[in-house]
Amino acid sequence: MTEKGHSPVLPTQVLEFVGAGREGVYVDCTLGLAGHALAILERNPRSRLIGLDRDGRSLEIARERLKAHGKRVTLYHADFKCLPELEIPFKKVRGILVDLGISSFQLDSPERGFSHTHEGPLDMRMDLRSKTTAGKILHTYPEQKLADVFAKYGELAQTRRLAREIVHLRKLGRLESTSDLRILIERVYQWRPQKGRIHPAAKAFQALRIEVNQELEGLGAFIEDTVRLSAPGTRFVVISFHSLEDRIVKRAFHGLASPAEGAPLLAVLTKKPVMASDVEVAANSRARSAKLRAAERL
Ligand SMILES: C[S@@+](CC[C@H](N)C(=O)[O-])C[C@H]1O[C@@H](n2cnc3c(N)ncnc32)[C@H](O)[C@@H]1O
Repeated sequence: MTEKGHSPVLPTQVLEFVGAGREGVYVDCTLGLAGHALAILERNPRSRLIGLDRDGRSLEIARERLKAHGKRVTLYHADFKCLPELEIPFKKVRGILVDLGISSFQLDSPERGFSHTHEGPLDMRMDLRSKTTAGKILHTYPEQKLADVFAKYGELAQTRRLAREIVHLRKLGRLESTSDLRILIERVYQWRPQKGRIHPAAKAFQALRIEVNQELEGLGAFIEDTVRLSAPGTRFVVISFHSLEDRIVKRAFHGLASPAEGAPLLAVLTKKPVMASDVEVAANSRARSAKLRAAERL
């Protein structure tokens, strides 16, 4: 997909829950190609936006797309977990958005190695400055650790067998590309395309990507720290695409809304996660597994 083909998920719900009509500063922790960010800036011409992404390439495209908004925009090439260390005017921040995972732009760039449908290197790093690639994990993790990654983050069955086959192939020096891995997975799971079934390689690639980028690491602590730093009235909107991710968000919100001790810091605005309509899913398949949770700082 071209960068033009990228559409942000749950666009109207994001604007509503982040409270984009209010004048102030909005922080987009996962800027991507700035789909949500542009909509936020357009909603109130006096608002400002701080955008972060750990992917330098996406950030450059976003910078170009946001150019017309000039000084209203400040961008950082950073992991959002570093937000508390950046110069964020938390008193003026009205809304904080976290749209987790990867973008269609990243998924559809063969040289990044995120997709089993493209031939590419076993890379999968969101931040090209980091050292751990999918290849490094596949070539260095012990068999059991590989099996655990696929079971935990990919929710796959028979992961011991998959890990054993990976170790066998790497010893032969024949595990170098996304296609090598996809073909191995198709063999292990005796894959035959069937309507409604998810390709096991999609699950295995997702698992590897989560491990490469340590996507779940520190997510709960990030939410807690940021909520504590924020001012009353600040809206938090988090969109997740994986059940473990959603569970972390749900627990963090719940812990802050109903603490064992002390006053609550958050009011949860979404009793159940908000999901995309059938119409949106038909137009943007990435929206299928999106779950949005929102809360407001008390
Ligand atoms: C789903 S996309 C966001 C799409 C964006 N909302 C839009 O409308 O274009 C997720 C983006 O977040 C970035 N990302 C994921 N985890 C991150 C992290 N921990 N810190 C900073 N950026 C992150 C990815 O590189 C990717 O560009």
